[in-house]
Amino acid sequence: MTSRRRFLRQTFAFSALAAAGWRRTFAAPVDPAAQHLLMIGDWGADKKIDAQTRVAKAMAAYAQAQHIKPGALLLLGDNFYGKVDGGVSDVRWQTQFEQMYPQSTFDCPCYAILGNHDYHVEPASKPDDQLAYAAKGGTRWTMPAKWYRFEFPAKNPLVTFLALDSNYQTPSEKKQALTDAEKAAQLVWLKAELAKPHAPFLVVLGHHPLYSNGQHGDTQALIDTWEPLFREHKVQLYLCGHDHDMQHLEFAGHPTSFAISGGGGASIRPLKQDPKQRGPFGQSVFGFSHLEMSAGSLVLRHIDPDGKTLHAFSKTPEGSVTVL
Ligand SMILES: [Fe+2]
Repeated sequence: MTSRRRFLRQTFAFSALAAAGWRRTFAAPVDPAAQHLLMIGDWGADKKIDAQTRVAKAMAAYAQAQHIKPGALLLLGDNFYGKVDGGVSDVRWQTQFEQMYPQSTFDCPCYAILGNHDYHVEPASKPDDQLAYAAKGGTRWTMPAKWYRFEFPAKNPLVTFLALDSNYQTPSEKKQALTDAEKAAQLVWLKAELAKPHAPFLVVLGHHPLYSNGQHGDTQALIDTWEPLFREHKVQLYLCGHDHDMQHLEFAGHPTSFAISGGGGASIRPLKQDPKQRGPFGQSVFGFSHLEMSAGSLVLRHIDPDGKTLHAFSKTPEGSVTVL
């Protein structure tokens, strides 16, 4: 079946699901006894950092108000727009990461993956800088490789995370991406990891969406390469950024929920497609996301800079989704 036909089938399947009606409950309160992490995408704005600062402060206020202690911060790529002249010593590491997301709120690993802007050559290889900053130690910045696995929490894990590099775009002189050899190596690694035993929940991280109603839209290369694996191995959740908005997409019969958290600081952009047609949720808004984890469910909440919950859903290990 061609990818186009597969896409149409999924769109139709979603429409059928929407017509049947979502099971919707009143928003569930945050459970402080569960495990928690927060995430942002598209956050490392250059020049103007007022929106990044606003979202960072909102995360700290939210954690305090909800009485939660994040066990991780997920940084979903586009970590550094623009120049990083000083490499691992650049002041931006302090102003836009270490101080922006202070240890007083995030006394935890900050798991980062690479976005397309992280591959721009400004002035040298930004991926090398980000890997080197993690490798030097003495920081919460965690990027052991371009793709890697971690269990959360480390003891009695509830979630196996597979953090991937989604930079399949065509490179140019100033805009780099994964090489063909890296894509092949990552795919071999991904298949091997998916075949291993994992925690009750399996969550994949990447910067680019497979499916998106935002400005960039779907990423066909990832649909062709990763989607069949997500389906086969029943990945419960794919988290990404790239489009500067907040989204949640479901497809009937598909084991994977697709969530976009791209409101971390770079300018937001309007949606291109109405989430009423393919959703259930999308909004062009700054914000962050909160993943609550317990043995019986994951709860993903999209939160705006005023701390308001824009959208939330839960998912069981068996794959049942409820919009809260
Ligand atoms: Fe991006």
